[in-house]
Amino acid sequence: MQLTPAATVAAAAVVFSLALILLPSPSEAHNITKILAEFPEFSTFNHFLTTTHLANDINNRETITVCAVDNAGMADLLGKHLSIFALKNVLSLHVLLDYFGAKKLHDITNGTALAATMYQATGSAPGSSGFVNITDLKGGKVGFGAVDNGGIDATFVKSVKEIPYNISVIQISKILPSPDAEAPTPGPSQMNITGIMSAHGCKVFAETLLASPAEQTFDSSVDGGLTIFCPGDAAMKSFLPKFKNLTADGKQSLLEFHGVPIYEPESSLKSNNGPINTLATDGAKKFGLVVQNDGQQVTLKTPVVTARITSTIFDEQPLAIFELDKVLLPRELFKGSLAPTPAPAPAPEPVADAPEPSKKHKSPPAPPAADSPADGPAADQTAADSNGAVRFDGGRFATVCFSLWLIILLL
Ligand SMILES: *[C@@H]1O[C@H](CO)[C@@H](O)[C@H](O)[C@H]1NC(C)=O
Ligand SMILES: *[C@@H]1O[C@H](CO)[C@@H](O)[C@H](O)[C@H]1NC(C)=O
Ligand SMILES: *[C@@H]1O[C@H](CO)[C@@H](O)[C@H](O)[C@H]1NC(C)=O
Ligand SMILES: *[C@@H]1O[C@H](CO)[C@@H](O)[C@H](O)[C@H]1NC(C)=O
Ligand SMILES: *[C@@H]1O[C@H](CO)[C@@H](O)[C@H](O)[C@H]1NC(C)=O
Ligand SMILES: *[C@@H]1O[C@H](CO)[C@@H](O)[C@H](O)[C@H]1NC(C)=O
Repeated sequence: MQLTPAATVAAAAVVFSLALILLPSPSEAHNITKILAEFPEFSTFNHFLTTTHLANDINNRETITVCAVDNAGMADLLGKHLSIFALKNVLSLHVLLDYFGAKKLHDITNGTALAATMYQATGSAPGSSGFVNITDLKGGKVGFGAVDNGGIDATFVKSVKEIPYNISVIQISKILPSPDAEAPTPGPSQMNITGIMSAHGCKVFAETLLASPAEQTFDSSVDGGLTIFCPGDAAMKSFLPKFKNLTADGKQSLLEFHGVPIYEPESSLKSNNGPINTLATDGAKKFGLVVQNDGQQVTLKTPVVTARITSTIFDEQPLAIFELDKVLLPRELFKGSLAPTPAPAPAPEPVADAPEPSKKHKSPPAPPAADSPADGPAADQTAADSNGAVRFDGGRFATVCFSLWLIILLL
């Protein structure tokens, strides 16, 4: 086929617009590995952000500051021969959960501040040892120190990269000594999962688990990777009367339904929507869950209930623990008492997400209208469709139509 110059330009335009549509849009705002890769003096620091899996956690957060240390400064730390878990604690102390550009550092209200770090967020920092003291010093210097070490140990060197207000990467003079972060850390299989849950708003679930053989199932799964979705105390407490009504088998299955036998950090839940098996899954009964994003919000669906993840309680490979706003009710145990399934609307519109009056099975503390109307197996499809409708992108659709039309014209 001979193409005129005009046709060639049009063809290029088609290819370009198709490429725009088909290429995955950038899903992450920043990539710390990539940012640091431009600076060879931070290659050791960068390497350990990857091996400790902190890089993922950093990429999944916004409004943070990474205090990087150059290769010479890392030598001291590596000389201590810490376990990978302790190393992760030390490095996570160098990720501040706030945005500190050079300007803000030199302009701290009252000259001193305590910044929470990712070490604090993991829940493994005892007391206030997950905080870093930032203090403006004489001569325009800025000092940093781990609170548990009680002093100023390092100083600000320079700003490496600032992407306001998502991520600021700065260089500090050395690794912050912290006796607590460096302390020998138990490997994951010695982790007290019920202790962690109890300390972070899931005490009722943890106690229920401790009284059940399901606890063994959870414990023995940690080494191979485990994700726990624990209902918060309010949700679990109001569910207890129904729980007590279940048979012994039913109780165990319900608890095991809240565990997934692989490590799924928040990033992978956000990027891998779809059905997942649980610890309760066996060949005969399915006991599966559906993970579905609603923007940045991760939801877990069964045909009976839609629960939202309200917080990350713990995330350290191979164990992730999330808090839910509701108890997950498997169809296998709660189907019987459901209202008859309403026929799905033929052409679901965005308004299909409005609450339905016939909802019977819902753990009490429900946020107003945050739910989708999943009432029985058929409703699953409705929910998926209406979600699709909400996400429908008119602009892209128009571009696709236009491109196809151009292609047809050219041929
Ligand atoms: C900051 O993060 C948000 C959300 O991920 C993103 O939309 C935005 O483009 C980022 N800003 C910059 C300057 O990268
Ligand atoms: C971040 O960048 C590194 C190096 O460029 C790359 O290997 C890695 O896949 C990126 N990570 C993500 C999540 O895009
Ligand atoms: C700064 O100091 C003033 C006076 O001492 C005090 O009232 C204020 O709370 C301090 N602000 C912060 C953020 O610590
Ligand atoms: C930070 O450390 C300095 C020096 O040890 C101390 O004077 C200051 O009170 C500390 N700041 C905070 C907020 O604890
Ligand atoms: C786990 O933590 C709970 C609550 O903190 C505690 O009662 C229990 O003794 C701990 N179990 C182990 C094995 O350390
Ligand atoms: C428990 O089961 C009994 C008998 O089936 C029923 O009457 C009662 O309503 C149930 N209680 C709850 C809280 O589901």
